[in-house]
Amino acid sequence: MNYARRPGIDSEALARLAARERETFTATHAESARLAKLSAQHWLNGVPMHWMRDWSTPHPLFVRKARGVELEDVDGNTYIDFCFGDTGAMFGHSPPAIARALAETGSMGITSMLPAERVARVGEKLAKLFGLPFWQMTQTATDANRAALRWARAITGRQRMLVFDGCYHGTVDETLVRALPDMNDKGGTRARAGLIGMNHDVSVTTDAVLSRSRTAAVIAEPVMTNIGMVLPEEGFLHKLREITRRLHVLLIIDETHTLSTARGGYARAQNLEPDIWVCGKAIAGGMPCAVFGFTAEVEAGMRRVQEDRGGGHSGMGTTLAANALALACLEASLDELMTPANYQAMHECAAYLSEGLGHVFATETLSWHVARVGARLEFGFGKAARNGAESERAAWPELEHAIHLYLLNRGVLLTPFHNMMLCSPVTTTAHADTLLRHLHACLREVGSAS
Ligand SMILES: Cc1ncc(COP(=O)(O)O)c(C=O)c1O
Repeated sequence: MNYARRPGIDSEALARLAARERETFTATHAESARLAKLSAQHWLNGVPMHWMRDWSTPHPLFVRKARGVELEDVDGNTYIDFCFGDTGAMFGHSPPAIARALAETGSMGITSMLPAERVARVGEKLAKLFGLPFWQMTQTATDANRAALRWARAITGRQRMLVFDGCYHGTVDETLVRALPDMNDKGGTRARAGLIGMNHDVSVTTDAVLSRSRTAAVIAEPVMTNIGMVLPEEGFLHKLREITRRLHVLLIIDETHTLSTARGGYARAQNLEPDIWVCGKAIAGGMPCAVFGFTAEVEAGMRRVQEDRGGGHSGMGTTLAANALALACLEASLDELMTPANYQAMHECAAYLSEGLGHVFATETLSWHVARVGARLEFGFGKAARNGAESERAAWPELEHAIHLYLLNRGVLLTPFHNMMLCSPVTTTAHADTLLRHLHACLREVGSAS
């Protein structure tokens, strides 16, 4: 563990706190420990999906149930959840509208590889809310992004993608790159560290600067949310739109996280006019479902590609995509979760929490920052970053993990990745106060003045 000295934090106090919190966790999570041991007999790393080991806890925390803002573990401990499954449950756990859709549709055929009766209606609702006329469904945002990139290559006849350094768009090969540290005007990329089983050099498929002749598409989150939170500079995204349009490069906006911004997403709120718009995770209230929407020009390009290719496997799609259950949940989410009232409640709570965090940091004379995009917030250990690399340099995983474990032991869950918090429609200022109170106590304990 790296408890090296940094401004405002007493590294010895931090190491002591981290050790104590691990002991506390162990003492209060006996049933989780028992299940962890049993699960290790049949699951790789003891969990059915390896990210479940990314938490700050000494062993996995096993969940009994989650409802609204509250999550209960198998030891009977309850938590106020600010993680919400890293966004999948952004509108609260098991919202009644989704539970109802599951109950009603679950007994009427889950999947048939035929369009369900409600397809036309849901298409119309997607178009109305997000402002793009044509749509496709996938099961995950990863799949939606992968399909969007494939279509972009096919439509433009160009091979390369442009991504932002420090981005995350799911496990999509072309996006798993970093900018070379000595990036010059040619704009080099390299594969991300730690990739498993890659069989080709992803730096060949992805550029770091736009090229009129090579770049098929730029894919971007309008606010970077996967390397801390990096807000765009004023005018940056509209300039990006202007340049991509001029060079006939497609602009793909991935709003899997920034759906938190406003009803209809960030791009709609800012009149960004992407060519392709992607969203997953919370789009159907947490049911596996993602969508991508596109303009009439892109749709015409897709049809041209289909006419020209002469049949055979397209290399896109999965069997369960657009199944009846996912579609029912998507409609319920469009109708009953993404409402103006829900967004207002989420935003008011997030603004309250943001202000409270700022107050805590000021009181402890920590020059940390808070970034917010609607219902989603992050705090970072330093001033606001201007790009992914800067944000990464400010990260301090040991401090992050100690804070997360301290809060978890007091019934507050933050995402395991950096310091992200979401306010759902059922998160209240009282929940925010609980987080603020415990965070403040934690920082007082590890602050260099203590
Ligand atoms: C912006 C963005 N796009 C896409 C994804 C991929 O989502 P999924 O893992 O559900 O496929 C993520 C996941 O964190 C994401 O943050």
